[in-house]
Amino acid sequence: MGLTFSVSPEVLIPRPETELLVETVLAEIKQRDPDSLKIVDIGTGSGSIAISLAHWYPRAEIIAVDNSEKAIQVAKENARKIGTPNVSFSLLDVESDSLESLGTADIIVSNPPYISQSHYENLHPQVRNYEPVQALLGGQDGLDFYRKLLLRLPEILKQGGWIFMEIGFDQQNEIEKLLIRQKYKNISFIKDYQNINRIMKAQL
Ligand SMILES: C[S@@+](CC[C@H](N)C(=O)[O-])C[C@H]1O[C@@H](n2cnc3c(N)ncnc32)[C@H](O)[C@@H]1O
Repeated sequence: MGLTFSVSPEVLIPRPETELLVETVLAEIKQRDPDSLKIVDIGTGSGSIAISLAHWYPRAEIIAVDNSEKAIQVAKENARKIGTPNVSFSLLDVESDSLESLGTADIIVSNPPYISQSHYENLHPQVRNYEPVQALLGGQDGLDFYRKLLLRLPEILKQGGWIFMEIGFDQQNEIEKLLIRQKYKNISFIKDYQNINRIMKAQL
């Protein structure tokens, strides 16, 4: 995205797959009027997604959410340095807190924790020992966050609004089933640079 982000031990180092997620959302925004767009980035970490979107679309209103106070501090500092006053921040646990303060968005974007317990145990120590566990682990099968978030999204996503999420390399089938069960429409997946479906796109 051509931007420099600071990180700390409390946030994930942004990965190339996530840049693809941002590019996918930017392609969607291009077809719309960014003046009236409201976007919520769930699990913002360093703020890489929210701030990149805000940088390229300074007229869009963006809310960056995380349940880690330290992550929110890092993201706020990145927004200040990069200069994106159109991002605001919200310290919330999207699994258990009320989401009312977020209002309703046109687009929800998220790179959630999606590593399964068995993959986590086999992760390279350079990742496991240096990245925060709450940024990586998505429960026994890695899908806990998707199950909970997809159920709660109608509280904060406008009818007809879009959701964009990064997914694990082997999760397409299970995520597709979850989306169909919860009646999302126009479901599609976008391949990463290794030809693996890593981005999910769906409409409420
Ligand atoms: C995989 S990291 C993504 C960080 C950043 N968006 C990126 O792509 O580089 C997931 C983030 O979700 C946050 N998170 C995990 N569970 C959460 C919850 N229940 N509510 C809000 N944020 C949560 C973590 O603190 C972490 O910052």
